Amino acid sequence: MASRGGFSNRLGFIAAAAGSAVGLGNIWKFPYEVGENGGAAFLVIYLACAFLICLPIMLAETAIGRNTRLNPFGAFNKLGNRKWGLVGLLGVLSGIMILSFYNVVAGWAFGYFIQIGFGGLLSEGVNYGEYFGGFVSDITDNLLYSIGFMVLTALIVAGGVQKGIERWTKILMPLLVVMILGLISYGLTLDGAMDGLSFYLVPDFSEITANTFYTALAQAFFSLSLGMGALITYGSYVGKNDSIVGAAALITIADISIAFLAGLMIFPLVFSQPSIEANAGPGLVFVALPGIFETMGSIGPFIGASFFLLLCFAALTSTVSLLEVPVAFVTDQFKTNRKKTVYFVATFIFFVGLPTMLSQGASDFFTNFTYYGGESKDFFTLIENVFSDLALPLGGFFIAIFAGWSWKNKGFQKELYFGNATLEGTFLEKMILFMVRFVSPFVVGAIFIISVLQIFFNISLF
Ligand code: TRP
Repeated sequence: MASRGGFSNRLGFIAAAAGSAVGLGNIWKFPYEVGENGGAAFLVIYLACAFLICLPIMLAETAIGRNTRLNPFGAFNKLGNRKWGLVGLLGVLSGIMILSFYNVVAGWAFGYFIQIGFGGLLSEGVNYGEYFGGFVSDITDNLLYSIGFMVLTALIVAGGVQKGIERWTKILMPLLVVMILGLISYGLTLDGAMDGLSFYLVPDFSEITANTFYTALAQAFFSLSLGMGALITYGSYVGKNDSIVGAAALITIADISIAFLAGLMIFPLVFSQPSIEANAGPGLVFVALPGIFETMGSIGPFIGASFFLLLCFAALTSTVSLLEVPVAFVTDQFKTNRKKTVYFVATFIFFVGLPTMLSQGASDFFTNFTYYGGESKDFFTLIENVFSDLALPLGGFFIAIFAGWSWKNKGFQKELYFGNATLEGTFLEKMILFMVRFVSPFVVGAIFIISVLQIFFNISLF
């Protein structure tokens, strides 16, 4: 066990898991999904998914990890059987595929840091929408930035659990929050801020469709790093005296708060610029923010570069958790040298990400890669749909079923008692079990069916 490493204490785990959760999902993905799915109504469903459905699954993942001290595949094999091992394997595969595209988007953030800080991007007359389109289809820049990002990720993961992952998260996350709070205050002073706030905070429930549900659920899984065993892996480094119930609640609250703040930051900024639409899609933060930094005058480049730098750090603590999963899998199962494994797996995933990088306009083949759901789709969208929107909820479904029904001798409950002896027999315990057994699997299962129909067949049930 000593050779596997571990977090120094409960706070170390909370920091690392929150660092994994908080990332591009909160600041890049969440705002544009709110923007595309009708604003506040999406927010309400998202919050319900996070606390009612995902939090219980987070407990299940962490408990499985701590109990087995193994990667997802090893964990399911040990507690269950070979068939359950497949769930772990799906998780490892999802981790690889998610990191392959996540690293590309992280490269964009890295590129914006460089271009704003050192490339003079913020100058009058730049159309940031066009700039973004040109930027993502420029393959040479993207290659450099994403190689840079993967190297950083690999260096941290190679540094080990405590000194690498844990230490950096504790320093950089608070800085990011301060930055966001600053931008919120600034945004609220701008014309149009109130329209932005009402879009974000006053729900119009007529906006809700089947699409809203599946997007919100998939986003909750993605943002909380759930459904593929990232928290099984992190859980495997948690001590037996640490309460995981309180930890999971704190991680969820931290992650959701930062997503919420990111929305508070972005929508006033979006509505203050007439040329930008809330439903601009994946380019939203990359298009909305530079225009605002430009209005700040001479401090604009400094604020802008700092913002994207911190975004890179947030992304880095997430890529680290994504890389950790296949690395733990390979080192546990094949008893390989950890450092060598890190560099090998990182290189492999970088190459897996190349088609995604090429699918934003650089290569016609990957940009119009396939056709389903009534539209031609690029390679990036395909991978995101399959390995994030579908595979994470599916993995979460099985994780809940496993912990709730299949784990023998009340294994799940007993694992929760470690570090939390007073839990036994309480209402809270009954609630957790009820959620893990009934609510999470049922809702996730139902929404999964909705998602498949929606994504691949363009059939909307309501
Ligand atoms: N949660 C991270 C974000 O919001 C991304 C992430 C890290 C992730 N690890 C994960 C997503 C594991 C799914 C599974 O940016």
